[in-house]
Amino acid sequence: MPTIGVIAGDGVGPEVVKEGLAVLSEAAALDGFSYELVPFDLGGERFLKTGEVLPDEAIAGLRRCDAIFLGAVGHPGVAPGVLEKGILLRLRFEFHQYVNLRPVRLYPGVETPIKNKGPQDIDMVVVRENNEDLYVGAGGFTRKGTSEEVAIQTSINTRVGVERCLRFAFDLAVARGQERVFRGLSEEDKQKGFIGQVTMVAKTNVLTFAHDLWMRAFTEVSRDYPTIKSDYQHVDACCMRMVVSPERFDVIATTNMFGDIITDLGAVLQGGMGLASSGNLNPLRTAPSMFEPVHGSAPDIAGKGIANPVAAILSIAMMLDHLKVDKTANRIRTAVAKVLAAGTPRTPDLGGKASTAEVGRAVRQALA
Ligand code: NAI
Ligand code: MG
Repeated sequence: MPTIGVIAGDGVGPEVVKEGLAVLSEAAALDGFSYELVPFDLGGERFLKTGEVLPDEAIAGLRRCDAIFLGAVGHPGVAPGVLEKGILLRLRFEFHQYVNLRPVRLYPGVETPIKNKGPQDIDMVVVRENNEDLYVGAGGFTRKGTSEEVAIQTSINTRVGVERCLRFAFDLAVARGQERVFRGLSEEDKQKGFIGQVTMVAKTNVLTFAHDLWMRAFTEVSRDYPTIKSDYQHVDACCMRMVVSPERFDVIATTNMFGDIITDLGAVLQGGMGLASSGNLNPLRTAPSMFEPVHGSAPDIAGKGIANPVAAILSIAMMLDHLKVDKTANRIRTAVAKVLAAGTPRTPDLGGKASTAEVGRAVRQALA
């Protein structure tokens, strides 16, 4: 029986986690799947009360879990970075969650702000490198607070780290292509035997050391995947193309920082932050993987009971994929699809008037 660590966290985190867990409970009962939940009290409130961000015993407890479900961290009363770096980034690094998997999929019935594009056009997955780059915290200040201050933040890129991320992306493209050949391929590409595509997104024209390494690794890894077309976009052009022609993307592989940024754009393509789910994966399974909505603690709407729980619910489905409970994962995604296609109930971010609880209940009712 898998053990699931739960970090509800701050702001809307606990509100959406509650609905995610209620959906999990109902779906698991239908499929006869059992699990154990272990709550962890972490986040802004605990920090303000005790000064503790992520104590060693919490890390040890989380490490014993098979997966972690996280709401969001980030508290208006705590300096930026304390919780995000101290909890989120630390867990991603400690548990070698080296892939951040972020599907960008427009469900039928959901409006996208991109003109003349629909669900057939918006169905890509971003594989964001999750353990390196500017996020490792390498850097420092000299002469801090003076007019001669220098601040340095270093982007770390290792051959091993880049290669394992790229291999994950190619493996994913193969799996997707085996399920259904990527629609964005030309007839000529299909005749060549391609079934999917990996687009590497970087900035090789300016970051001529780090992204040179990325490009060399990409070229080499791609040789092991003859059925996958390799494609490259600079990150700025990628942003433009995600808006103008999202249908040209299948799997995107990118750096930690670029992945962070382009997936907020991806969230908008699929209908907003309330719908975007993610998984921080340790593909080697040497430590637990962690699943969370892409959004943060949304202090502007916290406590009002109007946060969209769908991103959290879809993150539960991703967690079940990882735990290899495909049937329950698909049951949850189908239920979400039904509720979204029905057009109601909907939270205000999608133009509706429903509460978090009402949307959660509708998804539970659609499970059977
Ligand atoms: P945010 O994602 O919390 O909010 C951005 C906008 O999206 C807000 O207008 C918010 O109301 C809306 N939104 C977010 N989730 C929603 C939902 N479920 N339903 C409806 N609307 C939703 O990003 P923001 O404001 O930049 O950050 C707030 C705090 O969260 C900060 O402390 C930040 O550091 C932290 N953060 C934490 C993350 C995490 O725990 N993984 C990720 C991003 C930010
Ligand atoms: Mg982000």
